[in-house]
Amino acid sequence: MTAPEQVQLENIADCDYEIFALLKQRYSPRTFKEEKIKKQHLNQLFEAARWAASSNNLQPWRFLYAEQNTDAYEKIVSCLSEENKKWASKAPLLMLSIFKQTNPDGKENFHALHDLGLSLGNMTMQAQYMGIALHHMAGVDWKKAQELFHISNDYHVTTAIAVGYYGGELDKLSEELQIEEMKERKRMQQSEFAFMNKWPD
Ligand SMILES: Cc1cc2nc3c(=O)[nH]c(=O)nc-3n(C[C@H](O)[C@H](O)[C@H](O)COP(=O)(O)O)c2cc1C
Repeated sequence: MTAPEQVQLENIADCDYEIFALLKQRYSPRTFKEEKIKKQHLNQLFEAARWAASSNNLQPWRFLYAEQNTDAYEKIVSCLSEENKKWASKAPLLMLSIFKQTNPDGKENFHALHDLGLSLGNMTMQAQYMGIALHHMAGVDWKKAQELFHISNDYHVTTAIAVGYYGGELDKLSEELQIEEMKERKRMQQSEFAFMNKWPD
């Protein structure tokens, strides 16, 4: 077994109940295969996002993406937090996730962020099916991204996303990040977030 395969295996969720394999296998790597995302795969990612549910079918999600070795890619890198720059600046593709803040009547679309999340859930699972990882990042200077790409105030940059095929080399990461990459994946218990009949005291 190769080292990347070993990492992938160890990152499979230790589930209490059986779930869909793609959900179990997904994780957020900091190292990716040095391979461009195929155009067909990229279109499939956006197609998966396209068919997400949304409040009133308003489809408030927007994505701005750039491939490595382009000016636009470097612009996105410049918006990342220093911690994220350490690994995400080597991803084959970077993306910004954005939502449209208003309804057609100009009032706030309170559910827009929710719907962006749903579309990214779709995209993340479609990606997993194709051996692609999406590592979502809140550590992005969204105001700077908004300015650099001339995105109007009707839209809100939410996250940056590092996109690449699974199977990156562990030793391309610093020792500190290698430890992070190998850490046990943990979750709250179901009883801490799913409540039957009444809200807990
Ligand atoms: C909205 C969002 C923001 C995140 N921001 C960051 C980030 O800035 N940097 C980072 O390394 N990981 C980030 N993550 C990844 C989470 O840390 C990761 O999903 C969580 O620790 C669970 O690990 P797993 O995805 O491997 O299961 C983010 C994830 C989400 C969904």
